[in-house]
Amino acid sequence: MSFKEKIDPKRLPKHIAVIMDGNGRWAKQRGKLRVFGHESGVTAVRETAEACAEIGIKYLTLYAFSTENWNRPKMEVDALMNLLVKTLNKETKTLMDNKIRLGAIGDLTQLDPQCRKQLQETIDNTSGNDRMEMFLALSYSARWEITEATKKIAQLVKEGSLNPDDINQDLMTSMLTTKSIPDPELLIRTSGEYRISNFLLWQIAYSELYFTPVLWPDFRKEHLYEAIYDFQHRERRFGKTSEQLNPCIK
Ligand code: FPP
Repeated sequence: MSFKEKIDPKRLPKHIAVIMDGNGRWAKQRGKLRVFGHESGVTAVRETAEACAEIGIKYLTLYAFSTENWNRPKMEVDALMNLLVKTLNKETKTLMDNKIRLGAIGDLTQLDPQCRKQLQETIDNTSGNDRMEMFLALSYSARWEITEATKKIAQLVKEGSLNPDDINQDLMTSMLTTKSIPDPELLIRTSGEYRISNFLLWQIAYSELYFTPVLWPDFRKEHLYEAIYDFQHRERRFGKTSEQLNPCIK
């Protein structure tokens, strides 16, 4: 029985976030340049997006380029940006076929004009799709996001339109780039690394974390379904005890 068949469709996470890792190592294992690994990672992006849409996930957020990734060699950064433009253009059909609306989070002002133009075009072209929303985190880091949110709150206080006593978790959440979507219930990281790497730090407070040794270019639909199956067998306690959640079980 496949993992897809074992999944309970009534207990799906609404939002899945993914740290796509291992492209460089995958390429190295094959004696190729790192860029080859990124190019091969596009298949995994397509498979993951299709798998999520097919099964009924509402939101998918992919960590495609971190603030820290700007420090990689220029050749790799340029190649990643070109790949992004090419992929957005080529995969618009996949997004349309699966009724996926594209969104982006991060400091998009840092992207080069061609990249921003293509991104905006794809966002506009897919804006009528309503099966699933897929966000690309680009030039994103959680510390950047939280700092920006704090600046916005400070500005409101300075202008006199916000009383510091009214600052609460809901307000903070409303200032984040993910303000329109629920927190991810499941965070997946590929490539056997056990780190969060500055991704969605506020939003993953109660997320279930799933780490797989599979390198990102090898990640396929069944791997995604396996992660969801695993998620469905976790007990999510949100600080409560097991007995509180299951009063019948002594
Ligand atoms: C991490 O692997 C991956 C990235 C920094 C880039 C992710 C990009 C893609 C999957 C390609 C295309 C994506 C889109 C959305 C068009 P790594 O380079 O850190 O791998 P390593 O840890 O093995 O060195």
